[in-house]
Amino acid sequence: MKLRHLLLLLGLVALVASAQPDTGLVDAARGPVAVNQPTDPPRLTNAVNDDVRRPRNYDMQPPTIPHRVDGYQIDKNFNKCLDCHARAKTEFSLAIPISPTHYLDRAGKVLPQVSTRRYFCMQCHVTQEPVLPIVGNAFEGVPAPSGK
Ligand code: HEC
Ligand code: HEC
Repeated sequence: MKLRHLLLLLGLVALVASAQPDTGLVDAARGPVAVNQPTDPPRLTNAVNDDVRRPRNYDMQPPTIPHRVDGYQIDKNFNKCLDCHARAKTEFSLAIPISPTHYLDRAGKVLPQVSTRRYFCMQCHVTQEPVLPIVGNAFEGVPAPSGK
């Protein structure tokens, strides 16, 4: 094969490899950024802090947190959330007492303190950012039997 032909072939291979299939689909979360490129997501701002308890979309949904929690210490020595939300503290803190489910071990036995399964609150409860959803969502919640 002549060098000229080889170069032509290599050029063609490079051209085919660089062509992106145009599917017409754009991921709202990524924008037009190619999947092998990192996106530059908007920075987090201040979480919503309006103290308004939000309705739940289905029974057994962990309620979202309606106040800021920046810098709250949660480690093996101290749990800032329990400072207000522990059932023994809510008389003074006026926070919503954590539900009895948080005091059950996995065998269903009632414990005198919050179960280790529920110790790291933000595994399940999250604050909210004041932003519009980037993708449409037609989910309709089922009214909870408890009415919450
Ligand atoms: C200084 C006291 C205080 C601390 C600390 C605190 N909270 Fe709260 N929390 C409240 C109060 C009071 C409310 C009731 C709504 C309001 O005023 O914001 C509340 C509401 C909530 C709710 C909403 C409950 C519902 O049924 O809608 C969740 C969930 C929650 N807090 C989780 C947390 C978590 C998780 C932490 C730790 C990261 C935490 N809170 C730390 C006082 C506190
Ligand atoms: C494994 C997930 C999980 C963890 C961890 C967890 N929760 Fe919850 N939480 C839930 C769910 C689910 C509900 C709603 C159903 C229920 O009450 O059990 C709830 C309900 C609550 C409520 C509302 C109670 C009411 O009567 O309306 C508060 C307040 C709360 N949690 C606080 C906390 C705090 C504070 C912690 C950390 C000490 C915590 N939770 C850890 C899942 C969790």
